[in-house]
Amino acid sequence: MPSCAMRGLAIAAAMNLAAMCGGCAAPGLGAADGGTDGGAEPDGGCIAAPGVLEGERSVASRNLPALVWTGAAGEVRLDAFHAPCAAPGTLVVLRQLAAWSAPALWHVGHTAPLASMPGVTVLDLWAADGDAMPMTPAQLSVFSGFYDVAPGALVADPDETLGPLALAGIALPLVAVVDARTLHVERVLTDPRAGEVEQVVRAVQARLAGEPLPRTPDPVLVDGRFSRDRWDLIVDMARVPVPSASPSNAVADRPEAAALGHGLFEDPSISPAGVSCASCHDAARAFTDARPRGMGIAEVRRNTPTLLGAAWVRWPFWDGRADSLWAQALGPIESPEEMGSTRLEVAHRIAAAYRGPYETLFGALPPLEQASRFPARGMPGEPAWEAMDAADREAVTRVFANAGKALEAYQRTLPLPVSPLAAYVGGDFDALTQDQRHGLESYLVAGCAQCHSGPLLTNGAFHSIAMPGVGEGPDLDLGRASAFEALRASPFRAQGAFSDAPGTPDPLARLSTVPAATRGAFRTPTLRGIRLSAPYGHAGTFTGLRDVVRHYGHVRTLDPDPRVAGPPDPHLREFDDEHIDPIVRFLEIL
Ligand code: HEC
Ligand code: HEC
Repeated sequence: MPSCAMRGLAIAAAMNLAAMCGGCAAPGLGAADGGTDGGAEPDGGCIAAPGVLEGERSVASRNLPALVWTGAAGEVRLDAFHAPCAAPGTLVVLRQLAAWSAPALWHVGHTAPLASMPGVTVLDLWAADGDAMPMTPAQLSVFSGFYDVAPGALVADPDETLGPLALAGIALPLVAVVDARTLHVERVLTDPRAGEVEQVVRAVQARLAGEPLPRTPDPVLVDGRFSRDRWDLIVDMARVPVPSASPSNAVADRPEAAALGHGLFEDPSISPAGVSCASCHDAARAFTDARPRGMGIAEVRRNTPTLLGAAWVRWPFWDGRADSLWAQALGPIESPEEMGSTRLEVAHRIAAAYRGPYETLFGALPPLEQASRFPARGMPGEPAWEAMDAADREAVTRVFANAGKALEAYQRTLPLPVSPLAAYVGGDFDALTQDQRHGLESYLVAGCAQCHSGPLLTNGAFHSIAMPGVGEGPDLDLGRASAFEALRASPFRAQGAFSDAPGTPDPLARLSTVPAATRGAFRTPTLRGIRLSAPYGHAGTFTGLRDVVRHYGHVRTLDPDPRVAGPPDPHLREFDDEHIDPIVRFLEIL
């Protein structure tokens, strides 16, 4: 069957996700939540379902209530899988999944062995898409082409029906092995190892049929530690990725555009205050500034993120309020707190210092020397700008957008740091010290790869991690929830007049409301070069990596903080303090 990486990629591409795949969980942790209480007694071939389908209200009760979901072709009811007269050992395997989770994608990419087991029916409950937005039934069709599952066995389950079955965080996939005769949950697995679900299914079948427990061979481990799924995930983390396309920017991969963009990036003269992009994004610090929050003309309320891996960012900014790097770049230039410039000043600076390279790429500049038509300074909302001729305003705005496109081209060329992880996955196990390998193991045990997966160690999706911001009350930072309005209003979207691919389908079109889970959610940042970019978090409230990792270990039991806008993501899993230092050792090599 196609490799995990390929399937992950295919699903990802089709859903406009980052490439991500692999699988992870602590060896031995997978089956931890499982109960083994027996099913009901057979009654003349058929079997009664005590409490099932009536009376039971809670999924956590292990007798599943009459659940109803929506599939691509309409309603799908759990009752339809109820088979009281079936042979003992007839099972329904329910899998809770999300397209943002690499371990979940690994599992669906390896469905065939499970689906071909006699007496087993698989039903997949997809909670969210690759951006961690609630899954809609219309999106499900994407999956049926990519893995071996009957289209009727796919449902949208934005409420994560099976969540209550997980005791210590819904590490995905969350798998419930259910007796079809009673709809009784026999076993629950969170983020199981490769082959573990099949192993548990065989054991449950044997028990229900009164047969002896089958013997299972020990799994083959790479470097004596990692099962096949975990290893695939690690290999994927060390892969050198190909930058995702940027269709809305026709010059995204033109070296001449990158050269112009490099000039603009470091040029303090595009700002009247002498602030350049490089003032905050310092190459020596993985393009960050060693400050909790960015400081230009004034301090902003968010931390300056790294630009390493920017070429792969689907939704730039911590809250994703831009949909391309070129649109992103235009924000700080006209922000009064950051560079305090205007699009007219940028156009004049380009005419004065970059005319040749600019005109080669984008054609003639407007006649900016005509001072009566083109004042020295101006942007929307300013009287000098509003007094201009509409066509002149549009021409200047186009120059401004083109400056963004050159800045994007430059940022797409920034190389990722070299990590010894690459040599390690290449088979040179000594490329990592024992401590670092142990740290990698802990990283997987702690569930970090649920979100920090793939070559950039990010799923590019939005989650609430309960990291405090700087404001509270009316100044509370709502993160992703506050970004949709800005995105829809932006004239620089991929669907807009300044895009080179205005026909791009609008991924926001299907969102009629702001999903609740986006409150306090921020985009999972890359972990490449992470040792260079302290302090951490969207508001820089964590001084060192140890503080961040410690936060995760205790996030499910933290006291409420008025600077946090939403509850922590239910997929974060608890882990012991003994994993903190090893994880930090591993993060330092990225
Ligand atoms: C005053 C400091 C400052 C300046 C100047 C500045 N930035 Fe930033 N940059 C930030 C901060 C802070 C953020 C995060 C803002 C947010 O998410 O709300 C950011 C975000 C970004 C991002 C998004 C990265 C991601 O992963 O989401 C990119 C790309 C970027 N800046 C590029 C630039 C470019 C190009 C320029 C020059 C045109 C520039 N920045 C000027 C501080 C700065
Ligand atoms: C459910 C998804 C998810 C999981 C699981 C997760 N993270 Fe994160 N991580 C995020 C998000 C989202 C942020 C940004 C949150 C913010 O700033 O408010 C983040 C931020 C970070 C940062 C700060 C990065 C920076 O540039 O400031 C580090 C370091 C980090 N995570 C490491 C880890 C480690 C180690 C684990 C495992 C213990 C882990 N994460 C588990 C989603 C996740």
